[in-house]
This record gives sequence, structure tokens and C-alpha cells, in this order.
Amino acid sequence: MDPTLAQLRRQYPMVSDLERRARWRMPRFAFEFLQGGAGDETGMPRNRAALQSVQVVPRYGVSVGAASPETELFGHRYAAPIGIAPIGFDGIMWPGATRLFAQAAQARNIPYMVGTLATETIETVCALAPDVTWFQLYPLAADDHRVTFDLAARADAAGAKVLAATLDVPARTKRPRDMRNGFGMPFKLTAGMLWQAGIAWPWALAIAKRGIPTFANIERYSGPGRDVSARYVGQHVGGGFDWEVLARLRDRWKGPMMVKGILHPKDAEKAVSLGIDGIVVSNHGGRQFDASPASVDMLPAIAAAVGSRATVMLDSGVTAGVDVLRALALGAKGVFAGRAFMLGLGGIGDLGAQHMAGALIEELTLAMAQSGVTTTDQIATLATHHPGAWRFDA
Ligand SMILES: Cc1cc2nc3c(=O)[nH]c(=O)nc-3n(C[C@H](O)[C@H](O)[C@H](O)COP(=O)(O)O)c2cc1C
Repeated sequence: MDPTLAQLRRQYPMVSDLERRARWRMPRFAFEFLQGGAGDETGMPRNRAALQSVQVVPRYGVSVGAASPETELFGHRYAAPIGIAPIGFDGIMWPGATRLFAQAAQARNIPYMVGTLATETIETVCALAPDVTWFQLYPLAADDHRVTFDLAARADAAGAKVLAATLDVPARTKRPRDMRNGFGMPFKLTAGMLWQAGIAWPWALAIAKRGIPTFANIERYSGPGRDVSARYVGQHVGGGFDWEVLARLRDRWKGPMMVKGILHPKDAEKAVSLGIDGIVVSNHGGRQFDASPASVDMLPAIAAAVGSRATVMLDSGVTAGVDVLRALALGAKGVFAGRAFMLGLGGIGDLGAQHMAGALIEELTLAMAQSGVTTTDQIATLATHHPGAWRFDA
């Protein structure tokens, strides 16, 4: 192992170690944009508590020396069923974030679902991470979705492996921390933010080196420049996909296609009936709808509803390898983590995402050995206790 990564492994074994450091290394407005949620912010602790409540019964007497988290997803063999989730405007939280995520994912051989609102283009990301890039799409409804379909075509031409359409942002939401910090679109550095940035010198040095980020995918449509693209994003990006547009997208995208942000089994079934290949069970990390259930509590019902017709994955609240084991025990084929990877960058800097990937993969391998399984497929056979699981009888 790279000696620096080996040292980081010893120094910062848990996400909580990184969070503590990110809090002072990032300016407050950026840290709170990352860590904030909708409304009263009950959704985020609910995600964590729900995951932590899932118990998995270990089996003993099995030789686990060869436990391996390698997993095949949509025809590619990954080092582990753990992906980096899309994070819009990631470069404002850690300058260079999109590139760093791409490089970390390629180096560790894990999926990177880069977002429409990332701060490098899909073409750049596919060049940096040719084997592991997936593309997350938001709708841009103007002109009968001309830009939506163009973005998908660009992702295809660049070599993205999987397309994921996000459904769980049907409208703007209210994030009080961003309001108090004056953090909005178009992004403007206020005097207060400059003060916060001055204290957070690791971030300030990084931004001095790399510049204030822009919505790189969008500049082709908006015209160049941070303010221009941000205004365009504010005006045009968002609103949920409806099923009719998803069906048209399905028609055009020839490779595997997922929907991200599903919580009701009936919505999962609807997606499968349109030919969608995968579902990301997610509540957007508690950032959109504060009353939504924890995504892990909806997972078993959704996995049962779609059966083997689609690949079910989970995000929202994953911060440890044992969470990945929990999700797989309840029917997921893999997970994504958002904040954990960004806290890696905020807490450590450029190597943070690689470090985080290494920590999660190692923890999953250890959790597999502790529970007596050697392949990720076997995890689904483990007995679980899941007090928060929802049941749908209708
Ligand atoms: C700062 C931030 C920005 C995000 N931006 C996007 C985005 O542009 N598109 C998207 O589909 N999801 C976005 N998400 C949601 C993540 O992809 C993912 O669903 C969520 O972070 C999972 O929860 P976790 O952070 O607890 O792992 C964002 C999340 C965060 C924290």
C-alpha cells in the first residue's frame, strides 16, 4: 500500500474522524451545504439510526480466509459493491473534487456515478475513469428536453457505463443552513463567506490553486462562465422526471439504465415495467423531504417487489463497511455513499476519496469474515433482524 495511504488508514479509521477535521478545514458555508438536510433535518439521523438498527446473525465454523468483496454490477467486476454517489457543485466543498473522485474510483475499481451538476465534464471524467464511470442525469425540461437528451448522448459517446435518472427532486426544497449562510444559486462569495474561507486555510489554499468551480457539463448550453452557468442551472435544471420522459430516455439509452431516488415499491415496479435495469433506493441523504422514511427501511419491500428483474442498490446514511453488509443482507446488490467520500476530501485533502474507498472496502471484507461469508452473493443468505422494515400488503 502507498505509505501515505497506509498512514491515513491508521490515523483516520472512521468517517467521524474525517468529519471532525472537515469541520475546520472547510469554510462553514461549504461544510453545512454538505452536511445539511431539509427542514428540521430529521431525515439524516433517521437514515443512520435505521441502518444501525439492522442486526445480522453471524455464522461460524466456516473458513473465511478468502473472503472477497468483489462484485459484478451490470457486466463489470468491481473491487467492491460500493460506489461514489453524485454530488452537485462538489468543487465548492473541495476544489478539484470531481477529478479526485474519478481518480479514486478508477484506482480502487469502484463505480463513480458522476452528476449532471459536477464541476468537470462527463468527457473529462470518462477519460480519467474509463472503466468505472456512471452518469447521473437531472431533467432540463425546456425545448422538449433537448438538453436532457443531449447530456445522455454525450455520456454515451464518452463511454459512461450506466445512466441513472434522479427522480427524488420533484421541486426545490428548503435547507435552512444554506439560507442562513446565504448559500444559493447563482453562487456569490459574500463577505461572511470570505471570512469563513480565510479561517479554513486548507480549503483556501486549494481554491487559490484550482479556482472557483463551475458547472462544467452545463457550460455548453449556458455559455461559459461560472455566473452564467449557475444562473442557467437555477432556471432550467430540476423538477422530477415523469414516467413519459423516462420512457423516451429508456428508448434512447442502449446500455443499463437506473432510476435514483425510489422509496415506494410501486414506483420501483413502474420503473421495471418501462425496462429500467436498476433502482437506487434513496431519500437523497435526507436533503429533500424531511418526512421520508429511511431508505434502508424501504429496501426489503422494494427488493421483493422487483425480484430478479432489476438490480437494487441503496444509498443514504452509509458510512461504514458494515452498513454495506447490512444493505446486501436485506436484498441490495450494492450501495453508494455521498457525504462519506466528500468528508474524505474535506477532512484529508486530495487523497481523501481514495482513503475512504480503501477504508470501506477493508471494513466490508472484515464484516464478511466476521459473519461467515466469503462472497458478496452469500451475504443475502444471512439472517437479519430489521425492526424498521416497512411492509406493503396491497
Ligand atoms: C452536497 C450534496 C449534493 C448532492 N447532489 C446530488 C446531485 O447533484 N444529484 C443527485 O442525484 N444526488 C445528489 N446528492 C445525493 C447523493 O447522490 C446521495 O443520494 C446521498 O448523498 C446519499 O446519502 P449520504 O450522503 O448519507 O451517503 C447530493 C448529496 C449531497 C450531500
